[in-house]
Amino acid sequence: MNPNFQGKHKLPLRLGVLVSGSGTNLQSIIDAIESKRLNAVIKTVISDNPQAFALERAKKHGIQHEVILKKDFPSRDAFDSSLSERLSGHGVELVVLAGFMRIISKVMLEAFPMRIMNIHPSLLPSFPGLDVQKKALDFGVKFSGCTVHFVDEGLDSGPIIIQAAVPVNDNDTVEDLKKRILAEEHRIYPQAIELFAEGRLTIKGRRVFVSRSEDVAGALENPRASIFGDIPG
Ligand code: GAR
Repeated sequence: MNPNFQGKHKLPLRLGVLVSGSGTNLQSIIDAIESKRLNAVIKTVISDNPQAFALERAKKHGIQHEVILKKDFPSRDAFDSSLSERLSGHGVELVVLAGFMRIISKVMLEAFPMRIMNIHPSLLPSFPGLDVQKKALDFGVKFSGCTVHFVDEGLDSGPIIIQAAVPVNDNDTVEDLKKRILAEEHRIYPQAIELFAEGRLTIKGRRVFVSRSEDVAGALENPRASIFGDIPG
């Protein structure tokens, strides 16, 4: 299945960005668009949290933004129907979840099949859900990272588009790890959206294939084992 119905199009991809919090990922997308690394336009930013700093960021960049409160709807489906209507009303082609802390229901998935992306601060399928940087530290992993994936009906379970790994260091606090992962989030989320915009993503089963991607060989190691002496390179 090729989710990129427009193929390699010249017109900027129309995005709807859903947020709940500080919006640093939203900012990275705005910056990528403004510096022409990403051929897209943000048609609307929608927050389920009226206090979200992401709304200030949208305002500052002259982007249409609004708040939609779950408590104003009788059910999750009703909330998602309204969300989907607003996004469709803006002609949104790709829905971008940028720290949107809500499960997406079938209503949205049917309205935007394989056209909803999410970013998650772990190397999925490890550590889905919340507080995952702490869970990764507590578990004792040597690498963590972030994942951009298409959204399906599960929790952080859809087909993976890009992942970036970061080392976990012995003296890391949760904040240190969050910060290190966030820097990678800001790098790979605009990239994943640009790949979609260029029509370079194809989904086969669970796998997302990226056309014209470079082959990556070799392995990362953390900590670097030096029992055989220094590893060259
Ligand atoms: C990011 O770390 C993002 O990966 C995470 O929330 C943070 C939002 O930061 N999302 C999730 O955990 C979704 N399951 P931001 O508001 O500064 O972009």
